[in-house]
Amino acid sequence: MSDPQPSMFDGSVLSDVRDPYPMFAAMRQAQRVPSVDVQGLTFHLLLRYDDVAAAFKMPDVFSSKIMRQVMGPVMGRTILEMDGREHTMHRGLLSHAFRPQAIERCRTTIVEPLVDDLVGRIRRNGKRADLVAQLTTTYPLIVIAKLAGVPIDDYAQFQRWSLAIIGYRNTHPEPGLAASRALKEYLAPVVAQRRAEPKEDLISDLVQAEVDGHRLSDDEIFAFLLLLLPAGAETTFRLLGNVLYALLRHPEALDLVRSDRSHLHWALEETLRWEPPLLGTARMTTRAVTVGDTEIPADARVSIMMGPANRDEAHYPDADRFDIHRHADDHLSFGLGKHFCLGYHLARLEVTSAVNAVLDHLPNLRLDAQEECWIQGVSFRSPNKLPVVFDG
Ligand code: HEM
Repeated sequence: MSDPQPSMFDGSVLSDVRDPYPMFAAMRQAQRVPSVDVQGLTFHLLLRYDDVAAAFKMPDVFSSKIMRQVMGPVMGRTILEMDGREHTMHRGLLSHAFRPQAIERCRTTIVEPLVDDLVGRIRRNGKRADLVAQLTTTYPLIVIAKLAGVPIDDYAQFQRWSLAIIGYRNTHPEPGLAASRALKEYLAPVVAQRRAEPKEDLISDLVQAEVDGHRLSDDEIFAFLLLLLPAGAETTFRLLGNVLYALLRHPEALDLVRSDRSHLHWALEETLRWEPPLLGTARMTTRAVTVGDTEIPADARVSIMMGPANRDEAHYPDADRFDIHRHADDHLSFGLGKHFCLGYHLARLEVTSAVNAVLDHLPNLRLDAQEECWIQGVSFRSPNKLPVVFDG
């Protein structure tokens, strides 16, 4: 195979890529650990299921400290970049707020009323809609903002900041840095207010939290929020779009889920495997390590590619096919090990509540045959739009 195209990995340039998976499959077949240049830096790519899973489970060798370079400039020092005890201590400050029982409480207080309201508006507006513009884009953002305790007047502005932060590129840093500054300015008075008068929300948890006997500084709190708000909004909105897209494109699966909602669990798992919203993450080696026949040197940058690993034929036969009967819940889309996604339960609750509301309130929902839509992106993937029609 010819050398992979380095520019393929620059999501900001090629975000309209429809299907990067054949390219990843060809790379995986040609070489166990291919390396690519991304913006002048060499990355070693892990594309096989077993290699990705093993790397996640060896945080001492595949360190997260590289996240300092990847997201640090816009987010500050977050748990994403921490290793060892420091990571455990800081992650522990939030883990109780994201545990299943705590998240389950938001079902009736935040998630279901909100999604019923949004889907109700879609229904009242007529018999056609774009579910991306009218549902998926704003809904997870509103949920995480409410959980955090951040009042939002202008959701579009907030969405633009989140996009710019999570899409940060060091070759084109200014939009991300500007969004990070603006969001911090926006959050500063809210944090000050919660310090004076704590409430029942995440910011109040953070202002009262202590690590080794010290309260968190404002910068530490901003770092948590600058990770949580975009992470909570961006990935979940994309996943919800991908689940709806997968079901609408596979009417037999949609019918099954519509008639028996217990299949929704597997539709969600299969979408996470087949089209995860986030394709990869990064690590840095702390020492030389051998993967198969390839030695990766110490201090090397490694791309851990969950999306391609989820399509590894050696692990999932007929991996490119969306099949809710596969019942595979061992995909790698939320990561694995110490940094396993903190928002896992929340994301699942949000997506299942939204799909249930859409199926309950929009009868005979189907794609609008008059308009085309597709999933696009390389770093992040989601549908460009979801034009649908339904019966009144
Ligand atoms: C569909 C939705 C989501 C996906 C696919 C996803 C994916 C991931 C992945 C792959 C990681 C591991 C990164 C690494 O190891 O380098 C991660 C970590 C994380 N996620 Fe998510 N995420 C989702 C939703 C959320 C939500 C809703 C929140 C919060 C509200 C969230 C907060 C976090 C945080 C705080 C971490 C860092 C955990 C740590 O470093 O210990 N995520 N996520």
